[in-house]
Amino acid sequence: MYPDLNGKTVIITGAATGIGKACALRFGQEKANVVINYHSEKQVKETDEMINEIKKSGGNAISVQGDVTKEDDIKQLIKKATEEFGSLHIMINNAGIENEVPSHELSLEDWNKVISTNLTGQFLGCREALDYFLNHDIQGAIINMSSVHEIIPWPHFVHYAASKGGIKLMTQTLALEYAPKKIRINSIAPGAINTPINAEKFADPKQREGVLKLIPMGYIGEPEEIAATAVWLASNQASYVTGLTLIADGGMTLYPGFQAGKG
Ligand code: NAI
Repeated sequence: MYPDLNGKTVIITGAATGIGKACALRFGQEKANVVINYHSEKQVKETDEMINEIKKSGGNAISVQGDVTKEDDIKQLIKKATEEFGSLHIMINNAGIENEVPSHELSLEDWNKVISTNLTGQFLGCREALDYFLNHDIQGAIINMSSVHEIIPWPHFVHYAASKGGIKLMTQTLALEYAPKKIRINSIAPGAINTPINAEKFADPKQREGVLKLIPMGYIGEPEEIAATAVWLASNQASYVTGLTLIADGGMTLYPGFQAGKG
């Protein structure tokens, strides 16, 4: 547990499912004020249940619909968070999408959709949070949800890999720019995690087996394991950490092909 997160306000984008949801529930356990951003009206039931769960665990929560690709929606998100809870301390840019297409067939529409959600959406979240922190003299923390694909090339997912590679240098650049203001900006690079984005792939035993072969620790990660890294990065325990990509991947980026002395 991280006592300094008690009473802090955190916005998490794309928080109705998967990693974002696990982060929201974990910040709730830390007794933070959690602003759950969700995308689709279909996610209202889920977010209502999350609000109840967070309140039961001692935190506080509201949900705010919004599309991270829209400037006005991100501005509204910050406005609603600060109106409700008085301030903002932590911004987690988590919303992301992917789709599999051989690169020579990838439409401009699909390219733009992934880049605008995964990269531009995270930029807008960073920009608006930074603007708020600077105007209110807050030494806040920003966490961007990257991926092992900020390092590992990924055929058929060129738009996704490009977006995550972009997040790496965006995070480092902003970290450098705002370090003098003591605003910390880091990212997390999850490996293969058990969330809806992977549901179809992991339901197919052959594909699941293929993924497991890439993970030296031998299991697919749980979203709670990523949430555990997010609360640490947001807390004072990480007070001297900025510009970091924290990799949480069961060893996926350790060149598993070289295991057992091969190569
Ligand atoms: P997910 O599909 O459960 O979560 C993505 C969330 O983003 C959904 O709730 C969706 O409604 C929301 N979203 C999509 N477009 C949006 C928009 N325009 N505005 C607001 N929200 C929007 O999948 P998961 O795994 O929880 O993904 C979360 C993040 O973690 C993503 O950035 C993803 O790239 C990243 N990640 C996931 C990995 C995994 O294996 N699950 C591995 C590496 C990174």
